[in-house]
Amino acid sequence: MAFSESFLQELADRNEITEVVGGYVKLTKRSGSNLFGLCPFHSEKTPSFSVSQDKQIYHCFGCGKGGSVINFIMEIENLAFRDAVEFLARRAGMEVPDDRPDESRQRRERMLALNRDSARFFFRQLTGPGGKAAQDYILNRKISPATAKTFGLGFAPNSWDTLTSAMKSRGYTEQELADAGLARRGKSGRGVYDTFRNRLMFPVIDVRGNVIGFSGRILDDGEPKYMNSPETLVFNKSRNLFALNLAKKSKSGYIILSEGNIDVVALHQAGFDSAVASLGTSLTAEQARLISRYAKEVIIAYDSDGAGQKASQRAIGILEKLDLKVRVLQLPDGKDPDEFIKMKGPDAFRNLLETTENHVEYRLQRVRSQFDLNVDEQKVECLKRSAEIIAELSSPVERQVYSMRLAELTGVSAEVVGDEVERTRKKLLYRAKKQYERDSTRTVRAVRPAAGTPQYENLRSARAEEGLIRLYYLDPALFDGADISPEEFSSPVLARFFSVLREKAQAHTQLSMASLAESFSGDEISLLTNILNDPSVPDAQPNRRRAMDDYIEIIKSEKQSGSAGDDLMALAQQMRNRKRYGG
Ligand code: UTP
Ligand code: MN
Repeated sequence: MAFSESFLQELADRNEITEVVGGYVKLTKRSGSNLFGLCPFHSEKTPSFSVSQDKQIYHCFGCGKGGSVINFIMEIENLAFRDAVEFLARRAGMEVPDDRPDESRQRRERMLALNRDSARFFFRQLTGPGGKAAQDYILNRKISPATAKTFGLGFAPNSWDTLTSAMKSRGYTEQELADAGLARRGKSGRGVYDTFRNRLMFPVIDVRGNVIGFSGRILDDGEPKYMNSPETLVFNKSRNLFALNLAKKSKSGYIILSEGNIDVVALHQAGFDSAVASLGTSLTAEQARLISRYAKEVIIAYDSDGAGQKASQRAIGILEKLDLKVRVLQLPDGKDPDEFIKMKGPDAFRNLLETTENHVEYRLQRVRSQFDLNVDEQKVECLKRSAEIIAELSSPVERQVYSMRLAELTGVSAEVVGDEVERTRKKLLYRAKKQYERDSTRTVRAVRPAAGTPQYENLRSARAEEGLIRLYYLDPALFDGADISPEEFSSPVLARFFSVLREKAQAHTQLSMASLAESFSGDEISLLTNILNDPSVPDAQPNRRRAMDDYIEIIKSEKQSGSAGDDLMALAQQMRNRKRYGG
């Protein structure tokens, strides 16, 4: 949804950018009204990250990231636009306008409040005198009280109405309890009873910190072992992951994906603070996308039983589609992470994490299972595909070990396999080098199309277009009656900047980067910031009008000289039409 311009302006005013950024980056005063610090978005030793008090924008000369205070929070807290706005509003003690119809918004809010109150209630049950059995259970499963607290674990007593009556006395209705999935209607249709009974309760908390649902494990061997909240107004299983609220803060750079709630708890307790689990379903594309917002790499730590391995295969497919790097942990004989850590300890698990770096064995097995080695062509194909996997290993020793294993398996001599692997490796390295070169030029271009790089089709015109955008941002009034339209621009992205700026300026008085955050992608905002913040162009130009006229003239003359092509196109079109209509 769109926030009003005035709201965003006030939000930005009340979240002074140097103060907000200063909470994350140590800033020192340098020149003019600019503060400098080490960029939080790329690693560097000398500060190239600047924050402008005047313009209320940040800009890194190293990596090119930039934007308003909203963009900064989106980037550093990994939040979507709306969430970043809420984050800053909370910081400044402002109310966030909500355009959802009042009634549905209130129902959502009531449900979240009910969930939160229920989580607190379950927590008190666990720590209170009636919680002995559950406490023993937790102890038995080697979960420390501190860990239980981190996860907000609780206990739903073995009773039909403890929660229901507690929540009713707090003013919630039976209907609300039923809607939230915390209570169920009795057979007669009248009256409700607690959904969760005699269960260890795991609140499911989303990345914004809302309790959106629950997962409850039975304390004895009753059935079902786990019960999860049904889909509700606020709970969608396929779009959330258990413990992502904690894992998103991890510094590890990867997410550990496991199957069970207890596994996740045990992993966090053992120091693996980026573990999450899907909520009793197999991994969905939405969950994978969610993960990709917080990490570039996923380590799958599913049970090592048949079902777990099947689930791994599925998950790999889904994750790889999103360009996430995937590794698969191989836990020994039928173990899950919880049991493994309990038996072998955290160090052994860490060791496993580190040694399965390339999950070679796993991938080789996958390839092997796809071919019939009795058929020659298939054997060759299998060899090639396997060689590609081994060739990625950086250690020569490892390459040799796996090559020998592959040789044994396929009955091809070790020498031949080794040659194939090394040849493949050379190819890979060459390709990686090319890719690196491409990526690094692309970064430079994204930061600011440098002279001579052809990202802008018409560099001369594009420079003038950038100039107009800069001027427009500084002083929209200058353009009253100016004879230029975005259609005349040579660069589509610059034309879009110009027309959005113009649209906003025509509707309101003041332009701000904060109000632009929603209209453009992160890359576009960075480019725009770069244009506005170009250090080679002084802000106070002696004669802005003159500069504007010059820019306009350049754009028009460049358009003119390029229009010969247009004429030819028009001619071609005419001829086609003539043919078609027999003219
Ligand atoms: P597991 O059966 O592997 O349970 O189910 P677990 O997590 O290892 O639990 P413990 O160690 O036996 O206590 C893995 C996950 O599948 C979901 C739950 O989310 C569980 O954590 N599940 C399992 C259900 O939703 N319902 C069930 O009946 C069982
Ligand atoms: Mn288990």
